[in-house]
Amino acid sequence: MIKSMELTERQQRERDEYNERISKTHLTEVDFDHFSQKRFGPWNPYWYIYNYVQEHYPPPDRELLSYGCGQGAHALRYARLGYRVSGFDISDGNIGVAQTLAEKYGYVSRAKFSVQPAEALDYPDEHFDVLVGENILHHVELSEAVPEMRRILKPGGCAIFKDSLQTPFRDRIRRSPPVTWVLPIGVKNRVRGVSYHDTDDERPLNDGDFQLMRRHFPQMDVVKFRVLSMLSSVVSNRPLLERFDYWMFKILPFTRRFGDNVVVILKKETDAE
Ligand SMILES: C[S@@+](CC[C@H](N)C(=O)[O-])C[C@H]1O[C@@H](n2cnc3c(N)ncnc32)[C@H](O)[C@@H]1O
Repeated sequence: MIKSMELTERQQRERDEYNERISKTHLTEVDFDHFSQKRFGPWNPYWYIYNYVQEHYPPPDRELLSYGCGQGAHALRYARLGYRVSGFDISDGNIGVAQTLAEKYGYVSRAKFSVQPAEALDYPDEHFDVLVGENILHHVELSEAVPEMRRILKPGGCAIFKDSLQTPFRDRIRRSPPVTWVLPIGVKNRVRGVSYHDTDDERPLNDGDFQLMRRHFPQMDVVKFRVLSMLSSVVSNRPLLERFDYWMFKILPFTRRFGDNVVVILKKETDAE
């Protein structure tokens, strides 16, 4: 385990927050079939990532890194799909849960978990075919983490992330008095019964973050998600709303600018490029 002395204050706050959450609730099983269900299609960002990874980097014989893996559910799903998986997270509590689940499902030899900060990884250069992360980029110091991603990726490899995105126009409307009177900030978490808040340091990705990523990965693709589906916490039937957004983005491309979720794909050139 990493000593506190070696972590920045931000990293320590993240670790403490996520360790604290473990004491309230943690995963005891993994739903392996979750993303094989029909209601998940290209309109769902998680499903989009599973599909992209399997299509472009099919198993076996692929080294996959579950980046900021949390309690390891995604990592173990990739292990079951046949990838050789590594997973890291700053929270030793989360990594403990991931290891317990790996033992429970018999993936100890195919899914290796460790406690590490994204900003200083101890993996060798050019080791991974693919890095996969969900809701993690906005927790880390990108100016240090992005060069690390590039270092550990093989030429021709890619890093693919799902994350939340700043939408200044939409955020202004959301925070305007008439809207907050009807829907107070935080109501979503209360409706969902979520007792925790965002960590102090996290914030959705912004244009500056994408410029930084593009400097290190000139081959960058960005796919937008979620306008109406943001209502899925208060109105049920998320798959229907996601499909609506998907078709709206296709038919009316200008509406993509309102999407507050993103899949970003960072490709490392092959040696020939
Ligand atoms: C919102 S959770 C997402 C976890 C996982 N990707 C998932 O979807 O289940 C964010 C995770 O980032 C981890 N984290 C925060 N800052 C980190 C850092 N600097 N390096 C590594 N992990 C970090 C937290 O411990 C937490 O597990």
